[in-house]
Amino acid sequence: MEFDLSELKGTDCSKLLNSTTVPRPIGWLVTMDAEGRTNAAPFSYFNVMSPNPPMVCVGISSRADDIHKDSAANILATKQFVVNFVNYENRHKMNVGGADFGPGISELEKAGLTPAPSTKIAPPRIAESPAGYECELAHTVELGNSRYIFVGRVLVVHIQDEMMLDAERLYVDTPKLDLIGRMHGGGWYARTTDLFEMPRLSKDEVEAAE
Ligand SMILES: Cc1cc2nc3c(=O)[nH]c(=O)nc-3n(C[C@H](O)[C@H](O)[C@H](O)COP(=O)(O)O)c2cc1C
Repeated sequence: MEFDLSELKGTDCSKLLNSTTVPRPIGWLVTMDAEGRTNAAPFSYFNVMSPNPPMVCVGISSRADDIHKDSAANILATKQFVVNFVNYENRHKMNVGGADFGPGISELEKAGLTPAPSTKIAPPRIAESPAGYECELAHTVELGNSRYIFVGRVLVVHIQDEMMLDAERLYVDTPKLDLIGRMHGGGWYARTTDLFEMPRLSKDEVEAAE
């Protein structure tokens, strides 16, 4: 079947896109408003887009009534955000941030999470998260109706000590991070436990197998 998205309304486009672009990593964003109040919310329209320069992207839609989500309003106001990664252990705490709390309510407190100071930006990290990026806003793509794609430059990467295999060589124990991704529908997730290895092939190896 074929679906012309220009003929579908936004909610129907999300059904198709959310169900096919899977699993999506979850950027659990901590932002701060101009008064210094923190906000935490998960976003799965998120990914790292370039290692050099180190850039991430996050897509934030609006509330049903075209009002900014708090994360978007905060990024526009203070131009900084922390991306925290979500492991299986923290899944329920992450889910608290997906609920619709008003501005000025700290989802960190609601979920019983511990803020840890960032090094180069004001919003804190989530101490319970196994890895996180301190980011500054580099570009804003306005999508209309209070929706945005924010492109952030990663300034600092944090990884819990016990998640490193060899810090000098920058080897991370990725399976130990136990990160989750978002799948289809409102409540399906995937764990990163079903792994397989497939070494990259050279052109000669591909041709030899023909
Ligand atoms: C796992 C997960 C992923 C989500 N991904 C997105 C997303 O990519 N974009 C978005 O606008 N909302 C997304 N949401 C919904 C927001 O987290 C939700 O609207 C939240 O209340 C926004 O909070 P804020 O107003 O504090 O920014 C997601 C929710 C969950 C639970």
